[in-house]
Amino acid sequence: MKILILNGPNLNLLGRRQPEVYGTTTLADLEGRLRRVAEELSVEIDFRQSNHEGELVDWVQAAARDCAGILLNAAAYTHTSVALRDAIVAVDLPTVEVHVSNVHAREEFRRNSLIAPVCLGQVAGFGISGYEWALRGLVEHLRACVI
Ligand code: DQA
Repeated sequence: MKILILNGPNLNLLGRRQPEVYGTTTLADLEGRLRRVAEELSVEIDFRQSNHEGELVDWVQAAARDCAGILLNAAAYTHTSVALRDAIVAVDLPTVEVHVSNVHAREEFRRNSLIAPVCLGQVAGFGISGYEWALRGLVEHLRACVI
């Protein structure tokens, strides 16, 4: 079973960007942690980051070929991207929305997610640990579906 883990704009700066909000763990460290969790769960992950909306859309579309689900931190595109939302609906893969910060406790515009209504669930506010909980939850959901 393969899971696509997608990171949107500015997440390449994790560890350096507003550490008081996003912590000090880098994207590479996060990928390493998720690879260890994936091994424990016996799943494969495809971990990617892009600052470009169209590239993220292309990767969601490509996931339909060989992925069972998607973990998505669309970052700022969460609040603006009809294109990403439409791509998730189009591929019809269970998708979990992840945010490092608690988007509901920040600026008003971050409370609105165009992605959340088409997702299985959302994990926000647990720092980078949220990715791990989201991955575990998604895999458990997918395994329950195939039994
Ligand atoms: C974020 C929250 C978004 O509002 C913001 O634009 C990001 C990161 C998070 O992980 O907390 O870039 O998705």
